[in-house]
Parts: sequence; structure tokens; C-alpha cells
Amino acid sequence: MSLPKAELHLHIEGTLEPELAFTLAARNGVELPYKDTEELRRAYLFQDLQSFLDLYYGLMAVLHTEDDFAELAEAYLARAATQGVRHAEIFFDPQAHTSRGVPIGTVIEGLARALDRSLERHGISTLLIMCFLRDESAESAMETLDAAKPHLHRIAAVGLDSAEAGHPPSKFREVYKAADALGLRKVAHAGEEGPPAYIREALDVLGVERIDHGLRCMEDPELVERLVRERVPLTLCPLSNVRLRAVDTLEEHPLARMMDAGLLCTVNSDDPAYFGGYVGDTFHAVHEALGLGEERLRELARNSFVASFLEGDEERRAR
Ligand code: ADE
Ligand code: ZN
Repeated sequence: MSLPKAELHLHIEGTLEPELAFTLAARNGVELPYKDTEELRRAYLFQDLQSFLDLYYGLMAVLHTEDDFAELAEAYLARAATQGVRHAEIFFDPQAHTSRGVPIGTVIEGLARALDRSLERHGISTLLIMCFLRDESAESAMETLDAAKPHLHRIAAVGLDSAEAGHPPSKFREVYKAADALGLRKVAHAGEEGPPAYIREALDVLGVERIDHGLRCMEDPELVERLVRERVPLTLCPLSNVRLRAVDTLEEHPLARMMDAGLLCTVNSDDPAYFGGYVGDTFHAVHEALGLGEERLRELARNSFVASFLEGDEERRAR
């Protein structure tokens, strides 16, 4: 589906395809616990978010050099261009790399190398969103923000991801305050596996402009009313929700009901190498499974630009 669109919920490490993982493993002398790409793909049967995260962080062991990060991002951008992506706001997880001894500068400057030439090469403008791992401590998040300071010109926003349950947004109040003071914009995953209260906290305590996922707002009609009234964008990821068992089947995904309720929904791929499709594939899948017609798909594509951090001329170019 090649409607022009912005992708707002995409973890760059979640675009690591098995073929590239094996190439990088060979280059960096990393032994993977899988015989080949087929065996690795067969392991992509997840019970929940945590079972995915265990594999996802494990496979990152192949990423070491600036070249590796540049190659990873370049492969995503080339693929995204074929799916109608005109603008991408890309998450990365610095702590998943610094904890393995990879300096944050290697990660950011490697990614930036691919992002800097993306508009010219692929017609995709880009922004970087640095995510804190919510199952790590608030102190570790603050250290990460400090370590990123020499590279802040490369970073547009901060985000919050990883295992949600038991790690409420309020744990990161201080680091979001510090990020805000540095002029960074703010988003957070909330309401993927965590309760609707986490969505409220992300808004009220962290001051985020967008909610990543936000699926579980549907359990709380008052919250839905607020999200509609305040036009808070939700970056939904339907294929991810099926693979991580937040919903049983795509046919049962609440996307259509959420749009009917007046929520500002966008559709995104999350970790496309793991969840069976890039963003164009996701548009196609919701069209098929939920019977979303042309008009609804156009609305989703339009929403993706409205919900993006682009403004004015930049937004007009991308559309
Ligand atoms: N990191 C990568 N994908 C994620 C997801 N779906 N939820 C939370 N953290 C993530
Ligand atoms: Zn995500």
C-alpha cells in the first residue's frame, strides 16, 4: 500500500532482518544460538511482550560498529521507501547497546550517517527519538540522557519503551523534566500491556505529546473522551499487537472502533522484522482484516502527518 505516509512508531533495532543479523554476526565474530536464518525465524513465536524483548535484545549482540548501525538504518529506509513512507520518526534504545560496551556515540553517529542522506536517497525525511528502557532504573535513564548530550543536535525527542507492566511512567518524571529543559520533545509507550492509568501518567506526569500504542485506553471511556478532546495522537501497531498477544486476532483489533470513537489513530510497524510486515503491509493487513476502506486508509495516512513532529513547509513536502 503506497499511500504517502509518516511512520511514527518504529524501533530501528526491530528492523534487523535475520539475513543482516547473520551477516553482521560473521563480520563481528559473534556466535548466534541459531543455525541459520530459518531457525531464527522459527523462534519468532512470542507469548507476550517480554518473550519478544528477550530475543530482540539478544539479537542486538551483532551490532557493534558505526557501520553496523548505518547499514541497519539504510536497509530500513530503502525498504520503507517502497512502502510509501515519506517521513520517519525513528526510535532507538541506547541502553541496549551501552550495556554491551558499545558507546552511545557509535550508535547515534552510525544511525545519523544513514539518516542524513535519507531524503536525497529515498525521499524520506527523518527524526531520531531516543528511548529509555523503563525496566532499567531512572538513574540509568538520566545517565543515558547525560551521555547523549554531545549528540543532542541529532535527537528530536525522548521516548519510553521495553517491559511496561510494573514500570509506570512516573518513575521517569525527573528524566523527562531534564529532557524537556534540553528542548527535546516527548513521547512514551503506554497502554500496550500496561493499564489505562499509565496513559494518564504519561500525559500528566511526563507531559508527552503522543502515546505510543495506547491500545488499552479502550477500557476507560473517560480516558477515551479526554484523548479525543485533546487530540492526543496514538501510534498503534496492529501487527505487533497480534504477535505479542495483546489481541487474539487482527480481526478483533479495536482500530476501527477507535477511529469511530474519534481518536487520532495512526498505524505503524513497531518491529517489522519480527512481526510480519512493514508499514505498507500493515495498511494492507488492516484493510483486509478490518474492512477499512479507501477513505479510512487515507484518514490514517493523513493522521500520520498531523501526528508527526513536522510543521508547515516540511509537512507539505512530505505529504
Ligand atoms: N521495544 C521494541 N518494541 C517494543 C514494544 N512493542 N513495546 C515496548 N518496547 C519495545
Ligand atoms: Zn514500540
